[in-house]
Amino acid sequence: MASQKFFSIVLYAFVFAAFATTALSSLSPNYYDYSCPKALSTIKSVVAAAVQKEYRMGASLLRLHFHDCFVNGCDGSILLDPSPTIDSEKNALPNFQSARGFEVVDAIKEAVDEACGKPVVSCADILAVAARDSVVALGGPTWEVKLGRRDSTTASREAANANIPAPFFSLSELIDNFKSHGLNEKDLVILSGGHTIGNARCATFRDHIYNDSNISPHFAKELKHICPRKGGDLNLAPLDRTAAKFDSAYFGDLVHKKGVLHSDQELFNGGSTDSLVKSYSHNTKAFHKDFAKSMIKMGNIKPLIGNRGEIRLNCRKVN
Ligand code: HEM
Repeated sequence: MASQKFFSIVLYAFVFAAFATTALSSLSPNYYDYSCPKALSTIKSVVAAAVQKEYRMGASLLRLHFHDCFVNGCDGSILLDPSPTIDSEKNALPNFQSARGFEVVDAIKEAVDEACGKPVVSCADILAVAARDSVVALGGPTWEVKLGRRDSTTASREAANANIPAPFFSLSELIDNFKSHGLNEKDLVILSGGHTIGNARCATFRDHIYNDSNISPHFAKELKHICPRKGGDLNLAPLDRTAAKFDSAYFGDLVHKKGVLHSDQELFNGGSTDSLVKSYSHNTKAFHKDFAKSMIKMGNIKPLIGNRGEIRLNCRKVN
């Protein structure tokens, strides 16, 4: 009898420990329900105000989450400023003079910490939720963001240079890059649809408009007005014809050889991804649904969980 009781206590303890470990070792949409029930609504209202003031801020926040997740997982490493111990990712090629939105992240962190009464929400989670809320604010789909990511205590400029895809990549380089992050060819096409909002600097598409042949000559001429052969590196062009709207115009533009970046047009250049681009070009509903799915997948890349990392007090610095 006594041994039976002992056995059931051990069994209960085992089951409890298993549950507790699962809760601590995976992300969950309810992560802040008890510790900060106002977290999600607070993030949403700061993002909505920022996007209302400047639509492009939504694009910049979406891009920050992408650049965060592609460097050692979604751990807020992109937000760390340079310091004697931090080789900031902000100085990596894809981010320098290009990544923006850091002040909005600071404002969100401040508002959330105040709403919670304590710093419990990580900067990595703030980025994931702000990316979703930005897409929603610009007319895109919504999705449930799993939460509980913790913040890194390190950053790596070298890793950012090595892991974030470049605009001069070929289709096979893009596919290989996404594969290295656990994302497939379909995710590549769908997530590139993030370029339905926002802008690109002349320096990132000059080669494409002057030297590539897979571009509409009329469109290239238009862009040459914005982007001269020499100078004007920071001049901006919209990434699709409706850069403030999260629609499927980006894919239609690719079908008409009006991709702004070389890497965009690679997705519709006679290769394996052509049919997918074509189908999204006339099916916004499918694009929205699939974008939500791929964003969840991207947001779950190698999070820091359990007792790894920390909850930063200031998103720009380690504690
Ligand atoms: C497939 C490989 C990708 C490449 C090579 C690429 C490259 C670029 C480049 C060069 C720019 C212009 C940056 C500048 O001139 O400052 C840009 C902008 C942008 N990218 Fe990507 N990107 C890729 C995928 C993605 C993904 C997966 C997302 C999000 C899901 C994304 C979201 C954005 C957004 C929203 C902007 C506009 C940012 C703004 O207006 O501030 N990109 N991208």
